[in-house]
Amino acid sequence: MKKIERSGALRGTLTVPGDKSISHRSIMLGAIAEGDTYVRGFLKSAACLATIDCFRKMGIGIEERVGDRSHFLDAEENEPILVVHGSGLRGLKDPGVTLDAGNSGTTVRLLTGILAGQDFITTITGDESLRNRPMGRIIRPLNYMGVMCATVGGDEKLPMTIFGGQVHSIRYENHIASAQVKSCVLLAGLYADEPTFYTEPALSRNHTELMLGAFGGNLKVRERREGEGVTTILYPGTILKGQDVVVPGDISSAAYFLAAGLLIPGSEITLLGVGINETRDGILRVIRSMGGDLEVRDIRMEGREAVADITVRYSLLHSTTIGGDIIPTLIDEIPVIAVLASCADGITTIRDASELKVKETDRLAGIIANLRLMGIDVEETEDGMRIHGGLLHGARIDPRGDHRMAMAFTIAGLVASGTTTITDESCVDVSYPSFYEDLYHLE
Ligand code: S3P
Repeated sequence: MKKIERSGALRGTLTVPGDKSISHRSIMLGAIAEGDTYVRGFLKSAACLATIDCFRKMGIGIEERVGDRSHFLDAEENEPILVVHGSGLRGLKDPGVTLDAGNSGTTVRLLTGILAGQDFITTITGDESLRNRPMGRIIRPLNYMGVMCATVGGDEKLPMTIFGGQVHSIRYENHIASAQVKSCVLLAGLYADEPTFYTEPALSRNHTELMLGAFGGNLKVRERREGEGVTTILYPGTILKGQDVVVPGDISSAAYFLAAGLLIPGSEITLLGVGINETRDGILRVIRSMGGDLEVRDIRMEGREAVADITVRYSLLHSTTIGGDIIPTLIDEIPVIAVLASCADGITTIRDASELKVKETDRLAGIIANLRLMGIDVEETEDGMRIHGGLLHGARIDPRGDHRMAMAFTIAGLVASGTTTITDESCVDVSYPSFYEDLYHLE
């Protein structure tokens, strides 16, 4: 249980932990590459540790070398560097036990794509939240690729058994923009005989494609034509080679401090080394459209990922409308954007956000219920909500075991009058174990 009081101005500089999506992928691609992959800035959170655990169970050596400068000359003395000893595309070993993805959808959905190409049968499960999330979205394309995935009673929920082996290429069009499904299909496509074509309605995060390219994979994004989705083509047959990976700061973690800086009078917060990949930067565009004082400086490339330093200052925000192609670029930030909207002048509309219903919890329902508890007028719509800007009052908030709900409503609590209680804040460990320490560092 965490008690949050209204906060005075937050001023300072912070480096947020590594990007969760990129951290998962560094282990996965490192494992199926030949040779060693060195990872700097890896996010040691529960979700990414679940990925490490799964690959260790399949015989992959993954070690932490503190202060190792052999691949990063300027590594700090106490800086952890992960080394993944890759065993090639088909080098994973039968784990002989059920793999546990914990709370992590990325772990199970991407890993399943890789298991499709292995010569053994594997069962994966997860925690209660993950066992309730839909797996049909990966089972369907994998079935078309000739890979059988079995669930108990065909309920398309974990536990799921993957019968790896022969993979056929497909041309698959998905009606939802999901990087996890896209990555699953592309990773399975590495094992196919012919190119794999994957089409999505709008470009979802492209870290798998960028990192695969760096490891020697051959991919192309087709020029988008009017009225069509975005197609990514993977050409199999290349060998992946271990690489040095620098994981940028996670913009989804930075988002909480961006919101705190904008909402708390007198604040000025600078966040260093934040990943601003254009498939992830929707929150920055939303902040600008709400009139937020935001500065993005020193844009640079870390490998194939764009990174920048970002400063926000307290601002009087006004409402905005969010929907369409921008949604996948800010999908995980909607809880904290809803908090921004609840303090903005006017009515903010969020639409095309049905995917939030199948995240770690039903985030649409969670956001609406918790904002109402804090005194905000919110209208529920079929695929989103309309938030009437107002005054936040302290309340007892149940984050429903969802890390992003806990962090977003902690920020709401810093702005609210009275005391806000987060009933179980330990779920922040999933993506940001040092969240409260970093917050107190600024206070
Ligand atoms: C992720 C993709 C997104 C996102 C999740 C991480 C990834 O999920 O919400 O936190 O790393 O590929 P969907 O693919 O379900 O949209």
